[in-house]
Amino acid sequence: MRRNAALFLIPLALSAQAIQYSESSRVWLLTTRQSSYAVGIAADGAVRHLYWGAPLWRMDDLPPAAARRDLSSFDPRQMLENEEFPGWGGPRYYEPALKVTRENGDRDLVLKYASHRIQGNDLDIALKDIRDDIQVTLHYTVYPEHGILRRNATIRNGTAHPLTIESAQSAAWYLPPGDGYQLTYLTGRWAAETQLNREPIHEGMKVLESRKGHTSHNFNPWFAIDRGDAGEENGRVWFGALAWSGNWRITVERTAYRQVRVTGGFNTFDFAYPLKPGETLDTPLFYAGFSESGFGGASRTLHRFEREEVLPGGKESRLRPVLYNSWEATTFNVNEAGQKELAEKAARLGVELFVMDDGWFGKRNNDRAGLGDWFVNPQKFPQGLKGLIDHVNGLKMDFGLWVEPEMVNADSDLYRQHPDWVIRFPDRPRSELRNQMVLNLARADVKEYIFGVLDKLAGEYHIRYFKWDMNRAVSEPGWPELAATEQRKLWVDYVRNLYEIVDRLRARHPQLEIESCSGGGGRVDLGILQRVDEVWPSDNTEAFDRLRIQEGFTQAYAPKIMSAWVTDVPNMNGRSTPLVFRFLTAMQGALGIGANLNRWTQQDSDVATRMIALYKRIRATVQTGDLYRLSSPRTNDVTVNQYVSPDGKQSVLFAFRHSQEYNTAAPVIYLRGLDERALYRVEAVDGKLLDRQPQLSGAYLMRAGINVNLRGDFDSTAVILDRL
Ligand code: GLA
Repeated sequence: MRRNAALFLIPLALSAQAIQYSESSRVWLLTTRQSSYAVGIAADGAVRHLYWGAPLWRMDDLPPAAARRDLSSFDPRQMLENEEFPGWGGPRYYEPALKVTRENGDRDLVLKYASHRIQGNDLDIALKDIRDDIQVTLHYTVYPEHGILRRNATIRNGTAHPLTIESAQSAAWYLPPGDGYQLTYLTGRWAAETQLNREPIHEGMKVLESRKGHTSHNFNPWFAIDRGDAGEENGRVWFGALAWSGNWRITVERTAYRQVRVTGGFNTFDFAYPLKPGETLDTPLFYAGFSESGFGGASRTLHRFEREEVLPGGKESRLRPVLYNSWEATTFNVNEAGQKELAEKAARLGVELFVMDDGWFGKRNNDRAGLGDWFVNPQKFPQGLKGLIDHVNGLKMDFGLWVEPEMVNADSDLYRQHPDWVIRFPDRPRSELRNQMVLNLARADVKEYIFGVLDKLAGEYHIRYFKWDMNRAVSEPGWPELAATEQRKLWVDYVRNLYEIVDRLRARHPQLEIESCSGGGGRVDLGILQRVDEVWPSDNTEAFDRLRIQEGFTQAYAPKIMSAWVTDVPNMNGRSTPLVFRFLTAMQGALGIGANLNRWTQQDSDVATRMIALYKRIRATVQTGDLYRLSSPRTNDVTVNQYVSPDGKQSVLFAFRHSQEYNTAAPVIYLRGLDERALYRVEAVDGKLLDRQPQLSGAYLMRAGINVNLRGDFDSTAVILDRL
């Protein structure tokens, strides 16, 4: 990765600027150390996509956007041209980036270049309809060091009449014309998130989306496309990730003219956003990049970008602490004595953040009551939370608290006071899922209430961390207080207000950290990641299932934000794996423990103490290093992942054997990302390394590889390499 990056320093140095514009050819060239992206103005004023791929440096190499001819009356030139941000108008029959309806019913929209502005690494290209003052500003931000390009659009109604927007996308991306493309994407469901899929891109359209009001478990807003020849560490990969935690949509379209177009932004399903004269609508941010070193290269690019440019605090943000969460130990039966006892046990293991989960508030003794009543339950905590928090702090741990602020149970004081606060169609039955309803966060009063509740908790108590949950999706999405034509703003305003609440909370409580959870991985995307410190990838903590969930998760998201717990067995699937296997699985992200410590034996606690101490030695490498997925649980009975610290001084390898067959030895593991001339001190956890030399060269480790003695079912080991 680092070596590859050096190759690209040449073009960047030659071009000096990340954004160039040629007056003569009317072409923009946007360049990072891994990619270039070019757009041009055609003679008819349309703005067209020209290039996306490996870095270029010479403006003069790029031809201007050429005019095309109609192929036939059925195949007009508009269908052949790769318009950078196509409006729905004229003879355009493909997926538009913008579709509007005017008050008088006119729906034609043809966008032409109006002006542009370059400021540092930002480019704005303004487009305008050929007749009406409907303006679109395309925003581009180039991250030259990170290899990422960010796009979105602002739509402005400059006319004197209201408009309704029926489709507002963030960007259309074009692959070089060609055949054989493959789409890689993530799907899932509750407890089975981020499953990796790869399939040919055929003619027609593939839709990845959420209609559920949150990001959803079913699809994650990330894609990768290759020419059918890319692997984990080789081949060209174009990838992108959409930053929106509500209804989103990404379409991958292959036309009859060999175009491959990826369009993404607000989901068009049930979308109707009214725009009064003078009003604007900003579409979600859409990030994209290009890698010449396969899916591994693509994900390392995204990981680094997320750590340094997306997460709150960026480079300065602290490493994730080792966490303990009480949920699986106590469920709703929390009280001061019980939590204190768990906290003492957790502290002895080396835990740094103690999180009390559900059950501490209102009449919350099961999932049928209490949501919405965010005051401390007086039976469970007669003196409030201060006693417990002081105790936890006294044990040198931070304190964290579970909340689910967007929800309400019918059996709650909040619902009795404000039945109109929930999302609903008034004359229709409303679905309760997990006995709860969704508050209409799009309403200003609801937003202020939720902000007020959390602000009060964070102000009153020494709370370092909220686990922010959302345990159901939106249904029957009515907002009866508004006119029918305004109601569908809910989809957008809900998410905006959610973001605003979190942003304001963080501004008022700079020490506060937040984990995004939505029944597991239902709200993981680059929009929420701009404002939370970690996410909960899945309620499924069964270690073998987790290996696959984590493999998919890390395609798009950094290990640092991947909360991973060690829990008790037998777990999901009725499966039992050894405690070390569970620890090593969870140590590949932000380590947490969710087991019932009251049931642990002394031997379990000894293993945990040893593993947590080990984790602290390697955590910086896991959380901020480069990840190489050396062997996949989908294709092999051995899963291997390797992390290399940013300075190259430490590398850690995790290896898991799921099920040995025919007494076959584990395969040789070839390491990556090391310095071939350097010597590494080799330290194996549990003596399962067959190569007994205490030191090995980078060349040997990468070319001859290492052998591990993993046998039977669910065997595992870790190897730490320290550069000498
Ligand atoms: C969700 C979360 C769990 C736990 C429960 C509490 O299911 O994913 O981790 O917090 O809610 O009710």
